[in-house]
Amino acid sequence: MHNLSVNLNGLILKNPITVASGTYGFGREYADYMDLNQLGAISVKGITLEPREGNGGIRIVETPMGMLNSVGLQNPGVHAFIKNEIPFLRQFDLKIIANINGNTIEEYCEMAEILSGEDVDSIELNISCPNVKNGGVAFGTDPNVVKEVVRRVRKSTTKHLIVKLSPNVTDIKPIAKIAEDEGADCISLINTVSGMGIDIHKRKMILERGVGGLSGPAIKPIAIKLVHDVYKTVKIPILGMGGIISGEDAIEFMLAGATAVAIGTGNFTDPKLPEKVLKGMYQYLETYKFENAHALVGNI
Ligand SMILES: Cc1cc2nc3c(=O)[nH]c(=O)nc-3n(C[C@H](O)[C@H](O)[C@H](O)COP(=O)(O)O)c2cc1C
Repeated sequence: MHNLSVNLNGLILKNPITVASGTYGFGREYADYMDLNQLGAISVKGITLEPREGNGGIRIVETPMGMLNSVGLQNPGVHAFIKNEIPFLRQFDLKIIANINGNTIEEYCEMAEILSGEDVDSIELNISCPNVKNGGVAFGTDPNVVKEVVRRVRKSTTKHLIVKLSPNVTDIKPIAKIAEDEGADCISLINTVSGMGIDIHKRKMILERGVGGLSGPAIKPIAIKLVHDVYKTVKIPILGMGGIISGEDAIEFMLAGATAVAIGTGNFTDPKLPEKVLKGMYQYLETYKFENAHALVGNI
């Protein structure tokens, strides 16, 4: 038996396989297909202070080896999450990561404060949201804003704090360092890559908002590179994601420097994928005679 347990700086997972925010809902839809007890953790659909209906029009478009999405954070709001979804998820042996999203820094802080008194194991700060007070530029792309949002959220909660980085920046390294310096316990990456599609017959943008987020296997090499960049820059652990569809992909992320991984878009084509990735990881550890999963981290 191999020891698959990993420690994300205080958040201990029984295995390194988690599912990415926005691709697994609150686990309910997948529970019919897979035993959720096999997951190390779930990062739930991004939650906001108030319920949101999300964007109109087409929200999802298939692309070669991936998809573009513009869901617009449809979710029932933090209070419904606490009332209905935490009790559901607590039936399973997995860690609950609450992915939080705000229009302003104050909203992020308020959500972190509310969740501090609730039964979640970690808070994941999604800083890819548009900053309403700053003309809609994503929080995560401006180092000064990253500094302020992480600092203030850190003061708002004693919970384990993950900061989720956007790949849509020129250099991710200083941003990762700021997140670490301001008190993040762990860094997750990558969020989706900005993309666009045009319907040539209607001569219109496919997505109502024009821009969406590209995910799936198409972005994996970008994610591997950014995980490795961040691994060389910070001391805190990394939760890596972006295009994982096999055990081999998950191993590649860990060798690049991730301590745990998240499966996102791959869940849509195969709802049993996390189970298969876990099996693939076991096989790799067996083949190459590693006694524990942690030995893979950055081992290149
Ligand atoms: C439909 C969809 C919805 C998403 N919603 C969120 C979200 O609410 N919060 C968040 O931090 N990331 C969200 N993401 C980003 C994923 O969690 C993940 O970072 C990204 O898709 C890369 O992983 P993948 O290529 O395996 O999907 C979403 C992705 C998709 C495809």
